[in-house]
Amino acid sequence: MSNYTIQNDDIAPEQEVERLDDLHVSITGYLDGRLSFAPLESLSPSLILELGSGSGAWYVRMTFLAIDDNNLSRAIQAAKQFPNARVTAADMTELPARVLPPNMAFKKVDLTQTLPFDRESFDIIHARLTMMHVREFLPAQTLEPEVLTMYKLPQAMDILRRVTQCLKSGGWLIVEEPDDDCFWNNGGPPGRNIEKLLGAWHRSMRERGAEPCIGRLLEDDLRALGMFTEIHSHYVDIPLSNQSSVTSENQLGAGWQRTMRRVIPMLKQSLSSYGITDAILEAAQSELDDPEKSLTTRMYFTWSKKS
Ligand SMILES: C[S@@+](CC[C@H](N)C(=O)[O-])C[C@H]1O[C@@H](n2cnc3c(N)ncnc32)[C@H](O)[C@@H]1O
Repeated sequence: MSNYTIQNDDIAPEQEVERLDDLHVSITGYLDGRLSFAPLESLSPSLILELGSGSGAWYVRMTFLAIDDNNLSRAIQAAKQFPNARVTAADMTELPARVLPPNMAFKKVDLTQTLPFDRESFDIIHARLTMMHVREFLPAQTLEPEVLTMYKLPQAMDILRRVTQCLKSGGWLIVEEPDDDCFWNNGGPPGRNIEKLLGAWHRSMRERGAEPCIGRLLEDDLRALGMFTEIHSHYVDIPLSNQSSVTSENQLGAGWQRTMRRVIPMLKQSLSSYGITDAILEAAQSELDDPEKSLTTRMYFTWSKKS
């Protein structure tokens, strides 16, 4: 049984796969077609690990871009750049049935357990929107948000440490996570029903020992590990109301809006015990769509080079 907080099935349902693919395209658009802010273009990686591979969009794109007509030039670029890379996609949820490139393999892995990978073996390790779902060892009910922040997420840090041990010296660890505590309307509260919904979702995740707003903690946690020569962190306040002057940010915001529209019904069942009713969900959706609002939420991108 998966402990992924958005779904509970062993196989990702079709709509979740579509959602992750769509979000992947929006994030990659924001990165101007790159897979990360890390300077991967100058590498000749032989082994790449994708943690929490979900629908597989990131590594499918990385290894098999030529199938993607919309991104053909980038495909050629990536295909030229990483012709010999072998990619391992690791997740506790099976990959969806889809055409996969020949140079990749799926490995069923629970990140909270011993990792089945050799030390110093990978050139690039990437985890996106995954660490936020990883559960703590600590008794969940004791984890108030302030305590969590003080605690520096021991489980996430332990995973990052063990994952980094699997990186070669000079390899890149790329971790990209959101921070919905920074969900604002013009820098202020986003709306009563959005707040109720986010509050309930965050409570439900924290009670399960996961941290939905892990993004802001990443840089300090990575520094505390003392395993890197370079640590970079960048965040974007994602414009959800098409209000940015930067087209790629608005496209990311539109993709984030679509993902929220898809996630909200998925949360209906699990959040009913937190007082979230159909009326609140509908009102939250209306607030999200309100053209008078200028909504933003935050996502952090980190890329760190191993010593
Ligand atoms: C929101 S999805 C992100 C998928 C993908 N990284 C992306 O950006 O599209 C989170 C993924 O983390 C996986 N996950 C959550 N907890 C995990 C764990 N303990 N071990 C392995 N995978 C886990 C889930 O199964 C899910 O596929």
